[in-house]
Amino acid sequence: MAAKKAKHMTVKEIKEIVSKLTLKEKAYLTTGVGSWETAAFPKKGVPKEWMCDGPHGLRKQVNDVHASINDSIEAVSFPAECAIAASWDRELIYEAAKTLGNEAQANDVQMVLGPGVNMKRSPLCGRNFEYLSEDPYLAGELGAAYVNGLQSTGVSACVKHFFANSQETDRFTSSSEMDETTERQIYLPAFETVVKKAHPQSIMAAYNKVNGTYMTENKKYLTDILRKEWGFDGMVVSDWGATHNRPGAIEAGCDLTMWQQHETDKDIIKAVKSGKLSEEKLDEACVNILKHVFKTLEKHKSNVKADLEKDHEVARKLFESSIVLLKNDGNILPISKKKNVLLLGDFAKNPRYQGGGSSHVTTSRATSVVETTKDMTNVSYKKGYGPGPKAPTLTDPEFWKFRISASDYKPDKKLIDEAVKAAKKADVCVIFAGLPEALESEGADRVDMRMPDSHNALIEAVAKVNKNVVVVLQNGAPVEMPWIEDVKGILETYLGGEASGEAVRDVLFGDVNPSGRLPETFPFIVEDNPSYLFYLGCDDVVKYSEGEFIGYRYYTTKMMPVLFPFGFGLSYTKFDYSDFKIDAKGFIGDEKAGGITVSVKVTNTGRKAGREVVQLYVGVNKCALKRPVRELKGFAKTKLLKPGESEIVTIELDSRAFAHWNEEAKAYVHYTGEYEIQIAKDAENIVFAAPVDIDGAYPRKRANNNNPEIN
Ligand code: BGC
Repeated sequence: MAAKKAKHMTVKEIKEIVSKLTLKEKAYLTTGVGSWETAAFPKKGVPKEWMCDGPHGLRKQVNDVHASINDSIEAVSFPAECAIAASWDRELIYEAAKTLGNEAQANDVQMVLGPGVNMKRSPLCGRNFEYLSEDPYLAGELGAAYVNGLQSTGVSACVKHFFANSQETDRFTSSSEMDETTERQIYLPAFETVVKKAHPQSIMAAYNKVNGTYMTENKKYLTDILRKEWGFDGMVVSDWGATHNRPGAIEAGCDLTMWQQHETDKDIIKAVKSGKLSEEKLDEACVNILKHVFKTLEKHKSNVKADLEKDHEVARKLFESSIVLLKNDGNILPISKKKNVLLLGDFAKNPRYQGGGSSHVTTSRATSVVETTKDMTNVSYKKGYGPGPKAPTLTDPEFWKFRISASDYKPDKKLIDEAVKAAKKADVCVIFAGLPEALESEGADRVDMRMPDSHNALIEAVAKVNKNVVVVLQNGAPVEMPWIEDVKGILETYLGGEASGEAVRDVLFGDVNPSGRLPETFPFIVEDNPSYLFYLGCDDVVKYSEGEFIGYRYYTTKMMPVLFPFGFGLSYTKFDYSDFKIDAKGFIGDEKAGGITVSVKVTNTGRKAGREVVQLYVGVNKCALKRPVRELKGFAKTKLLKPGESEIVTIELDSRAFAHWNEEAKAYVHYTGEYEIQIAKDAENIVFAAPVDIDGAYPRKRANNNNPEIN
């Protein structure tokens, strides 16, 4: 039955409704009905709401629990989070999420499950494609843009998976163990930013434990930090099947449990009757749920129609802003439309444009580059490699036994020979390669960073006979590139959504100038990654021993070379930076003082229109505390600048940008030291730097030695 618009309800009115529910009804209300609905008691004035996945488009399942995970209504597949993060584009993410919200309204959905803002601790996490970044500032800012866009339509977001859910292996049982500094510097701030800047109406408690307690029962995070400290005022929902102890979850602040089908309602009733769970706590959960239901139903619109063709264009625009140019020797790209171009690889025809698992969207409008270039007589296609082994879906019991590696994708000699023969005659060869769904999915981590043998073999064979090779990567996370020296061009397109075919064609032939930047580091090999020694843990204990030194924080501090640094991305044009200015309104060491305004002029000095991403890092030169040498604290993407055109980019910094968590003070404090405001092109390429001395309250005790770092 379709949802009905509700009138505005005050908290007082909602409390009155809850006061009239029986204990049994209240226990029932705190569990979802089926997979996607909340409970309704029409006679008592309690309506229900409908929710569905997210975050890359609507996955509305009409057949509910027993449906296959891929059985959902037709909707637009937007670029996956890995791709949208590469756009560094708050405005276009807002627009896409708003479009998704309209599709939700048109399909009678009140809450979309997303976005995911977990940290990309290791390139091996099977679900990295569904997360934004290894950097909490970037993930927080882009996550907030997504939530603001989605919620501007009256549809609720559900930010997930709170928190420290950075691996799929043992995700239902493992405990992510870390100290407070690591939590506060890395794993919590993206959630904090989204809560404070976008006020999501819901948060999803993750499957895993943190420091020994299931997140669904973890009062410290769900109540003390999320609600009391950050001011979250919405509904906490368990991940699907993540609650192990219903009364414990209510006590901790997890309002709604999903996927228990009411079997455990009796535990709540028993706990209340025996005095183990106070009825007030249960009432609080019911009020939080009904506040959510009434708020979304108040904004419900029954007259919205989704125009999927129009929404496809929104997905395309965002994807165009997300494509990252990683290598462009001799300006191989863009390719002149007069050249003879050979497209190669199964992905050119059957693109990998989305991830596997609960974010899978059903669309019939996904385009390939083979299709979008079919009218270009100078463009031809050869397969080069076949699709290879296919993974079972997450809802297929076979999924959990299915293990596969890059070596299971055997090169096909016949297909390679045909490709090589055609490559000898082509002006430029564009090889589509990356990761098939079976190598990265929700529910399973990767074992290494390798691409399929069949993809690598094709690239190597073609590069031997043709000097003009461009590789277009479709993947949700970093890959090794053993052939990097043999090719002239590389485009990282991640998982671009259903408009893949148009956007990649337009970048290849120069109608769009790529402006994406990597939201994560690409190490040479996975063994270089700081979490490598501890990742996955043992016996359900996963120690986050690398602490706050994740991603580029580690590589830059250790001065370790990487394949591509965080923030990296080239353009078809050139940008000059000038007029670097800092306006310090207040004293930085003082929490209450005003912020700092940093500005820089960006000029397009090349011959093509393009967009630049200005990155601001706070660098640490001297500080008694061992900290990452550089952390992203601001960024801005320019408008499309014509050749010769300039834009003054302004970034505001508050005092938190210089602060660091102190476990004794249980607060973000300032450490005395020499800092720098750095304007950069990426985490390793600083354009301007200005020193900032901070005389902070810490350290309270100075060591008496000759180490210049701490004197
Ligand atoms: C996933 C969530 C998803 C939920 C509902 C869970 O297995 O972890 O991200 O929203 O299922 O499909």
